[in-house]
Amino acid sequence: MKRIIIAIDGYSGCGKSTTAKAVARALGYTYLDSGAMYRAVTLFFIENYINPDIPKDVSKGLQELDISFHQDASSGVQQVYLNGVNVEAEIRGMQVSSRVSEISKLEEVRRAMVEKQRKLGKKKGIVMDGRDIGTVVFPKAELKVFMRADTGIRAARRQKELLEKGEMLSLDKVKENLENRDAIDTTRAISPLVKADDAIELDTSYLDFEEQVSRIIELAKERMN
Ligand code: DC
Repeated sequence: MKRIIIAIDGYSGCGKSTTAKAVARALGYTYLDSGAMYRAVTLFFIENYINPDIPKDVSKGLQELDISFHQDASSGVQQVYLNGVNVEAEIRGMQVSSRVSEISKLEEVRRAMVEKQRKLGKKKGIVMDGRDIGTVVFPKAELKVFMRADTGIRAARRQKELLEKGEMLSLDKVKENLENRDAIDTTRAISPLVKADDAIELDTSYLDFEEQVSRIIELAKERMN
């Protein structure tokens, strides 16, 4: 069986990462969360007071940051490191979520992240989730999936995730953040979130999670042959 690239793109909070992780585990593939990279850049910019409107500061910031992924020994889950420090918890909070779309629309940021993502996927055998994986990062990915879900359902899921991490927010606030990010992500000039022509669309609003994962695995196995 040949090793393939599986690109999972879609709107914020529709379950891309949980799905991608489960698919990767079942196939013995690597999982890469491209959103975590944009989140880590955003955290670095916030912590270092980098103004995204000043190109020279953006370039300097990008040169000073190093993003890597390491597997957590106990859970086996990939964790994001920024300059050698595990930032998995910080990047998921609302402070980063409220700025990440603004930072990820910058051309230079995208260029640096896409280059890194292509390197990480070079050997194939990878499931990568994001917004532009099937359109820009790996336009020749053997399997492309595009996920969407009802905004109210996405907000409720995200609110629960935040609560589990100790951040309590109203449903309206979470919904507002998702809608803002959708608006910026879909309308930005460079690599906007758009379904690739050859992507298989999945509306996960009422789909059973196991069913959704097995559907993708089935499609992946077809493409591996
Ligand atoms: O997948 P996520 O919600 O963690 O992603 C956070 C943000 O990062 C998202 O709002 C837009 C940006 N992003 C992007 O521009 N391109 C990607 N491939 C992945 C994420």
